[in-house]
Amino acid sequence: METNRRTVLTAAAAAGITAATLGGTAHATGGRTPVKSLFGKLADGTKVHSWSLANGGTRLKVLSYGGIVQSLEVPDRHGRYKNVSLGFDNIEDYVASSPYFGALIGRYGNRIAKGRFTLDGTAHQLSVNDGENTLHGGAQGFDKRVWDVEPFTKGSDVGLHLHYTSIDGEQGFPGTLRVKVTYTLTRQGDWRIDYAATTDKATVVNLTSHVYWNLAGEGSGSIYDHELKIAAARYTPVDSGLIPTGELARVAGTPFDFRRAKTVGEDIRVADQQLLYGKGLDHNWALDKGITAKPEHAATLRDPSSGRTLKIATTEPGLQFYSGNFLDGTLVGTGGRIYRQGDALCLETQHFPDSPNQPSFPSTTLRPGQTYRTSTVHTFGS
Ligand code: BGC
Repeated sequence: METNRRTVLTAAAAAGITAATLGGTAHATGGRTPVKSLFGKLADGTKVHSWSLANGGTRLKVLSYGGIVQSLEVPDRHGRYKNVSLGFDNIEDYVASSPYFGALIGRYGNRIAKGRFTLDGTAHQLSVNDGENTLHGGAQGFDKRVWDVEPFTKGSDVGLHLHYTSIDGEQGFPGTLRVKVTYTLTRQGDWRIDYAATTDKATVVNLTSHVYWNLAGEGSGSIYDHELKIAAARYTPVDSGLIPTGELARVAGTPFDFRRAKTVGEDIRVADQQLLYGKGLDHNWALDKGITAKPEHAATLRDPSSGRTLKIATTEPGLQFYSGNFLDGTLVGTGGRIYRQGDALCLETQHFPDSPNQPSFPSTTLRPGQTYRTSTVHTFGS
């Protein structure tokens, strides 16, 4: 049975468990001020801080480096907390070998073919870091930048404002882009992300968050038993370099049909050309709702073993569902366990990959005077 966080608290109160047992007074009273501590230092001596937040039964740790969600803890059906997001326990591993664990992604989430696009008649060449293509903003994307972090409490909400200014020409992108990302933990324990950006020259923008979810707990094994539902009748098939062909294909009758909940593993070994290209699921679903003014339902993930659920609502038209195919047992995670293929999945709300080269896709162009705004809400249950 699915309950919300308040039901858990009521049950906990009936069982004589105090709010402190469940992670502090934040649960009972709403958010308290985020707590800052030193996480580590970059090679040049720059300090990286960790910010701890708790509200409504959700506990979050965020790094100033990459805006990384280093840990996100939520209770299972018995009120037992686990960190459900993959990561590292030290800054050196994040710098040396992170496959974007928990990071903010920009200036452009997912791939741009050959790292090239033309805007208003001017050709731009980006930093290429994925074969011949640009992935997640290039070799030094927003995930590898130190963000200015400003904590806030507002009513019963608690959160962080993260600021980063990407200068004109950074990684090949035109225009100085001023980015503000707000992470909010609500009194219900939702984690909300609001992205905003402005530019001084026409540019392209596609921001997202790259949390690797395992609702049974990071390091606990495969997510192939997780049940997933995606509100999308179409997806964008790709070529061998994972660049969309431009087609909006129907999911009906394919392994990409998640309109009814099914396990991630159910069709992952079907002999399908698209699954061969992705080494599993690594595709953009075109959400039925399209672009919306307010976050609307996109996907539901459930782990039957713990009962934990995650619902994602977004203003964005696309969702990249990546089944952790490139995790290969070479990284040791936060809890000291090795991450192997399929040990987590990502659900990245976004505009479609390679939109700057795909005239039929929703536009990712941002012009001076406009403000880029998108929002995504993560709702946890158990
Ligand atoms: C992409 C994958 C990529 C991964 C990086 C995902 O967003 O879709 O192709 O390998 O990020 O870890």
